[in-house]
Amino acid sequence: MFMTKISRRTFIGGSAAMVALLSTPEWAMALITQPYPRLKIANIKDLKVGEPVSFNYPDEQSPAILIKLGERAIGGVGPEGDIVAYSSLCTHKGCPVSYSKKRFVCACHYSMFDPAKNGQTFQGHASEWLPQIILRFEPRTGNIYAEGVEGLIWGRIRNILKSSKISKL
Ligand code: FES
Repeated sequence: MFMTKISRRTFIGGSAAMVALLSTPEWAMALITQPYPRLKIANIKDLKVGEPVSFNYPDEQSPAILIKLGERAIGGVGPEGDIVAYSSLCTHKGCPVSYSKKRFVCACHYSMFDPAKNGQTFQGHASEWLPQIILRFEPRTGNIYAEGVEGLIWGRIRNILKSSKISKL
């Protein structure tokens, strides 16, 4: 019978790596293992401060909102760093949020989220921040693309579903 001798150090190192892997949250695993689609959302010339643009990302079942805030924001893109996007499903129970007066508001139980601060929740039942869509601005064309999601979209165990389909631009 063939046997491989494993040193104590190799065994402990391998065990530690396995424990770390198994304790990684599901959404973090999804970020590590699943590629996000690249989606053109809008062109900067079509955006106006305070006027939201709706789109779906990373698939057609996942509504999101792009907004030009008119002030620099965490994760903001564009010349002023003020363009951000978020999943529009409230992290409490999945009701749609809407943009109003520099915040996202959920009409179901009035949770509020700050679009300038990573979607931080600051009022209401929601304890999780609104998932932020990772954006890329292309200065040459003015196009704005979605390239990922930071945080877990409400109601999902992973952001990228096996059956996900979206038309990439
Ligand atoms: S579903 Fe949004 S606060 Fe309850």
